[in-house]
Amino acid sequence: MDQPIPYLDLAAQMRPLRKEIDAVIAKALDNCTFCLGPDVVQFEKDFAAYCDAKHALGFNSGTSALHVAMLLLNLKPGDEVITTPYTFVATSWAISYCGATPVYVDIDETTFNLDPKLVEKAITPRTKAILPVHLYGQPCDLDPLLEICRKHNLALVEDAAQAHGAKYKGKKIGTFGEISCFSFYPTKNVGACGEGGALVTNNDAFATRAKSLREHGSTVRYYHDEVGYNYRMEGIQGAVLGVKLKYLEKWNRERRHVAMRYHELLADTPLRLPAEGPYAESIYHLYTVRHPSRDDLKKHLEAHKIGSALHYPLPLHLQKCYASLGYKPGDFPIAEQAARECLVLPIYPELTDEQIQRVASTIKQFFNQ
Ligand SMILES: Cc1ncc(COP(=O)(O)O)c(C=O)c1O
Repeated sequence: MDQPIPYLDLAAQMRPLRKEIDAVIAKALDNCTFCLGPDVVQFEKDFAAYCDAKHALGFNSGTSALHVAMLLLNLKPGDEVITTPYTFVATSWAISYCGATPVYVDIDETTFNLDPKLVEKAITPRTKAILPVHLYGQPCDLDPLLEICRKHNLALVEDAAQAHGAKYKGKKIGTFGEISCFSFYPTKNVGACGEGGALVTNNDAFATRAKSLREHGSTVRYYHDEVGYNYRMEGIQGAVLGVKLKYLEKWNRERRHVAMRYHELLADTPLRLPAEGPYAESIYHLYTVRHPSRDDLKKHLEAHKIGSALHYPLPLHLQKCYASLGYKPGDFPIAEQAARECLVLPIYPELTDEQIQRVASTIKQFFNQ
């Protein structure tokens, strides 16, 4: 009987790293550097260098980094931020936490990212920023968005939670907008042993204020300049991420290899395969295929012990938590169709060619091929 092919296999990543990770955790335990501390500082330096950015600040999640990014823009109730309805909900939380309003714009059919052609129509006098997501590891089309920002004096913040190392026109994402936010949730291309995030910017004033906001609005202990948060990265996570960052480029290449194998093996199936924009080099955080019979295909894969997942089954404008925004089904047809048709296949650096072939042949069997 065939072995299961899990949707995700974090244990396979951990096994070869275990000694290295044990050692840095032991050191952090010996030194009792639990909240921020030297390992976080070192990781911040390394991650800033990796992104070719002036500053990278460690946070306790991508969500908290995004929240602080929105606070740095001084968003207030009534302000609007244009963003995508087809993403993880945290993109919109950041706007809502400031009392501001997410204004959704539909996505591009091919890339699943915010469609720049539709953005300008959504701008009002209350618009303060554009918050696109580099979904599934593929950069969104940044140049037209930056052009719109310049024309209308808006800030661009990149939700880069899924796109560590992805390239737009040959340059790593992370410094195209004023601020970028990354997640180190364990499933990400580089993940903590727990929660983690980073805020990346070239703006010194933003970096100084972000440091204070993540630490109770304080730069001098027990003196608080503004209402702040406890959003510090844990010392142990900084140590773990320092180890894992060294492997990120290799892992991204290996994920890309898996994606290319899927491209080859699934080319003659009725599935719609992910496509990269001409400007994009995706890091294939997720490999997302589309088909109207997605639910049946998922069941078929499950019956053959192959994991798969829905990212995301319901766009944000139709979520209960955002009912008060007044959107209705049909408002963003491309996002809604993607939510009905998308299926994410197993993709991780450790996936073997045999496993990739079995996923592909099981899909072909579903289509009687
Ligand atoms: C697009 C996107 N934005 C934001 C987040 C939030 O990051 P975190 O889970 O680290 O809070 C995630 C994480 O899944 C994400 O995928």
